[in-house]
Amino acid sequence: MNRRIFFTTVLLAVLLCSLSCGCGAEKSSGQIQNVKIGVSVYRKDDTFVSSLCTDLENDAKAKETESGTKINLNIVESQSSQALQNDQVDSFLSGNYNVICVNMVDRTAAAVIVDKAKKENVPVIFFNREPVEEDLRMWSEAYYVGADAAQSCTLQGEIIQNAYRKDPRSIDRNGDGVIQYVILEGEQGHQDALLRTEYSVKKLVDSGLKVEKLADDTANWQRAQGAAKMTQWIQKFGKRIEVVLCNNDDMALGAIDAVRESPLKSNAPAVVGVDGTRPGLEAIRDGSMLGTVLNDASQQAKAIFDLSYSLACGKGVPGSVKLTSGHYVKIPYRIVTKENLAKYLS
Ligand code: BGC
Repeated sequence: MNRRIFFTTVLLAVLLCSLSCGCGAEKSSGQIQNVKIGVSVYRKDDTFVSSLCTDLENDAKAKETESGTKINLNIVESQSSQALQNDQVDSFLSGNYNVICVNMVDRTAAAVIVDKAKKENVPVIFFNREPVEEDLRMWSEAYYVGADAAQSCTLQGEIIQNAYRKDPRSIDRNGDGVIQYVILEGEQGHQDALLRTEYSVKKLVDSGLKVEKLADDTANWQRAQGAAKMTQWIQKFGKRIEVVLCNNDDMALGAIDAVRESPLKSNAPAVVGVDGTRPGLEAIRDGSMLGTVLNDASQQAKAIFDLSYSLACGKGVPGSVKLTSGHYVKIPYRIVTKENLAKYLS
């Protein structure tokens, strides 16, 4: 074979491969036929995070069918250990993954991961547990996909405010003109716990309602801890509790479990959550939860996946993903109550 024919044959083979790969992802070792996306989550037993992972898996399957590219989406969990998560990132990097997605155990520890990813030139997408801005800005290929925590609880306050407007006594049970409330907070240090707690109460106060805090404490996003705290508060405050503001649905469900086991069950306080998980939506349907704020796991997963796939293919940020400040994708929250529940249950 003369040189010309040889080079033409090679060129054609490369062209054919890039067409059949759908995604011409390229690494220094040459053309690859697989897209490898490594995902590390802080815990897999977190209801919200696990539903987001299921959505990610479905998005990957759909893309694989549509594009014909083999997508290796490897989701591992760090069992709440930052050291283990750092090791997982190391093995993704040494395993030639094209993109790494991280749900930080400790959101203040992202600099180490950004640094490693930058050295290997592998884009990194953080999600749900937001790194500090300074860490994200260390590299143009570091991104965050999540939601605006302040908005979630402004909306949570709005659910209470709307119910009060319609029927004040459905919220202010004792009719003293003041809403007595307790707050179940998420894990301390998590951006969503800090902001949600502040903004739900702020919304009530800004809308002219008088409020009195009876108690607040963390239940670390967990249903069992929410139930335990609420049981203590029922023993202490009894019927005085009119509203239970919860930073997520799992803790709201825990509060409802506690109410069901107590004398309050015949005149239960108004309970509101955040997330719109399946069990949360079911609780709105059966009337035990007044409302929730949808933390859109499926749209967040879609943004994470679309961004990962496009970056892995070397195509940069796709048109479907709207970045703000060069690094952030924030999916809007939405109110869910029994009035619009059908739309979300389906
Ligand atoms: C969700 C919680 C979840 C937490 C985990 C929050 O945004 O609302 O349900 O437990 O993220 O990081």
